[in-house]
Amino acid sequence: MKPEISVIQQFEDDKPVVCILGTKTIPDFLELTATEKEYVSRQIEAGEEFVSVNIYNKITFLVTLKESPDHFRRREGLRRTAYNMRKLFKGESFKDLVITSNEAYDGAVEDYAEALLLSLYSFDKYKTSSEGEKQKKDPSRLLLHGPQDDASIKWLIHLTDAVYFSRNLINEPVNHLNATALAEEIRKEGDSSGFSVEILQKGKIESLKMGGLLAVNKGSVDPPVFCILEWKPENRLNRHPIVLVGKGIVYDTGGLNIKTGDFMDGMNGDMAGAAIITGVISTLAKSAVPVHVVGLVPSTDNRPGGNAYTQGDIIKMYNKLTVEIGNTDAEGRLILADAISYASKYKPEIIIDIATLTGSAAMTFGNQAIAVMSNADRKYLKLLEECGNEVYERIAELPLWDEYEELLKSDVADMKNVGGREAGAITAGKFLEKFAEYPLIHLDIAGTEIQKKDNYYKLKRGPATGLRLLAEFINRLPNNIYIRE
Ligand code: BES
Ligand code: ZN
Ligand code: ZN
Repeated sequence: MKPEISVIQQFEDDKPVVCILGTKTIPDFLELTATEKEYVSRQIEAGEEFVSVNIYNKITFLVTLKESPDHFRRREGLRRTAYNMRKLFKGESFKDLVITSNEAYDGAVEDYAEALLLSLYSFDKYKTSSEGEKQKKDPSRLLLHGPQDDASIKWLIHLTDAVYFSRNLINEPVNHLNATALAEEIRKEGDSSGFSVEILQKGKIESLKMGGLLAVNKGSVDPPVFCILEWKPENRLNRHPIVLVGKGIVYDTGGLNIKTGDFMDGMNGDMAGAAIITGVISTLAKSAVPVHVVGLVPSTDNRPGGNAYTQGDIIKMYNKLTVEIGNTDAEGRLILADAISYASKYKPEIIIDIATLTGSAAMTFGNQAIAVMSNADRKYLKLLEECGNEVYERIAELPLWDEYEELLKSDVADMKNVGGREAGAITAGKFLEKFAEYPLIHLDIAGTEIQKKDNYYKLKRGPATGLRLLAEFINRLPNNIYIRE
């Protein structure tokens, strides 16, 4: 269960407290004795990132900030400390935890609370034993003390709710979440957050001739779906929407080019892009951000069943281009390409797709960066990079040079869906670019998403990286750059 967040004006000194210290001064309101203060000061001098003082029934945690010339690094340092402290709070059965600060930067309490919430996440709905019981003892309320502004608290709640929502979907195994079930979850989220959801079923997808999505679906016994999410507020500041596209492969076996060894591990999370854009739109809708956003989610599983598409097949995509299948495991780009050309219908300002697309992106950047490829105006990239630093879901760019297109040449069709072993993340980006009639930003989250170890509060098994980035980016768009008339 996600702890609730409330704001308190009056400091409650009978509860466990986390106090973030901006200086080495220990504030009087913590009511520590001279001996306790001395003990804390010594620990701080020794460079401890946090100190706990536990006297009788009262427990106080003091947290120090790391020095850094970059503000965004100080913020991240504090978030990591929150993760490092999570075990002190887990299963401790103190219901409330007060978070306060003394002379720390503005927003420190929110940053700490955000990272603590993300660190306390766990997926245990299928656990029947004591593990589930233990979680019930995690703090059930975080009481934020201090003059926080109302909008930033609401944003924090909506954003962390969205991350929990997305992580829950990413963690679901395919035997509990097929494409139709995913669409249903998206619809429910739309109903509760206030954005609209339209679900196109197989018949409609056939009549639209979305050849990429239909080809990938051929080996499956479950039908595909195509979801259209829309947040269109009356006070929108953009005339042309931002279109987000999320990869919704609910399971990627590789198809007939089946994944071997442990490469299939975690492939229930191959719909992370879909879960993430749903979370982004949910955050924007709940926070009433005045930007018109459309989300597109093509979804199916990729399996080697009965009539599965094969290597050598030639398919016709939604935009009429033909594609020779070089590898059935390069399925993500096929379903995304249909969605990216479908986006033209909205005459978007920009299209942003997000996908667990290539092992190559993961090999290049590990779990430290989201690979980005873009043909959009640089002003968007600049803002995206800034937001990436602030929320610490950082982006690193790969080129979309024309020369890479050569690698996708086919003897028998307009192009192939794979470009060989070299530059795998780039040729995937190049493939998608061919289907975009409007400026495209492509985010490959294979490296950050399918990880086997926690990267601090970006927990293993589907941390939903890119959600905080895109929500921040769209929230800041109106203030930062001129939105096309
Ligand atoms: N879903 C995978 C990419 C992936 C791999 C995500 C590892 C997360 C972790 C994607 O559909 C895929 O299989 N890509 C292939 C493409 C290749 C056949 C050109 C890959 O990267 O190996
Ligand atoms: Zn694949
Ligand atoms: Zn895939």
